[in-house]
Amino acid sequence: MGEGSGTDQTHGARHVAIIMDGNGRWAKKRGLPRAIGHQRGVEAVRRLVRAVEPMKLDCLTLYAFSSENWKRPEDEVDDLMNLMRKFIKSDLAEFVANNVKLRIIGDWQSLAPDIVGMLEDALEQTSHGTQTLAVALNYGGQSEIARAATKAAERGQITPETIEAQLDTNDLPPLDLLIRTSGEVRLSNFLLWQAAYAEMMFVDTLWPDFKPEHLQAALDDFAQRERRYGGRK
Ligand code: IPE
Ligand code: IPE
Ligand code: MG
Repeated sequence: MGEGSGTDQTHGARHVAIIMDGNGRWAKKRGLPRAIGHQRGVEAVRRLVRAVEPMKLDCLTLYAFSSENWKRPEDEVDDLMNLMRKFIKSDLAEFVANNVKLRIIGDWQSLAPDIVGMLEDALEQTSHGTQTLAVALNYGGQSEIARAATKAAERGQITPETIEAQLDTNDLPPLDLLIRTSGEVRLSNFLLWQAAYAEMMFVDTLWPDFKPEHLQAALDDFAQRERRYGGRK
């Protein structure tokens, strides 16, 4: 982890997660194919990842593909997988140069073997980074919790602590802020456990339009929140 905690820009937030939603609607509004919306979505990811280091945010987690997204038409799933291949190829060197440490959460090892290979290589090459970019791929919160509970049971007692220790996010800082774009107000199976005491923010911006300024605005709003964790002052 970097020395991000408590910087002015993050207002003490160490871990921000984003449900990147609205690529399809962005394209539809312009009469463009959904694939173009997804392409522009990748550009929004690139812009944001570039902002993470100067902002000194310890960890950014992005929901890229849910375990339910397999229900989409095959063409669209193929487009998304191909964009992933392209993105790793084009941006890996920049991640390394910018001290980005890649983490993948979800059941990513059951993706296509060539993608798994590329991801393994990317994890290895970025292992010395200081700012974490966690990408949720083939991720579902319920299945993550079930897998973690199974492992906890194999090792003895099931408690919140033993489950938490087996979650895919076990080496990431606690989740401070969860943002969803595109105006939908639901979690869609994202970070269900981790969201227990996270601050939530739902913004109307469609993902391809999301800029580092939007993240900064969300962090500035976060700074105004009073987190009580069930207690009182
Ligand atoms: C988010 O955009 C990208 C993924 C879920 C992979 P959508 O494709 O869900 O866009 P909308 O919600 O249809 O606008
Ligand atoms: C959530 O968005 C998944 C990702 C952003 C990767 P969806 O667009 O799949 O969610 P629903 O179907 O509207 O709940
Ligand atoms: Mg959507």
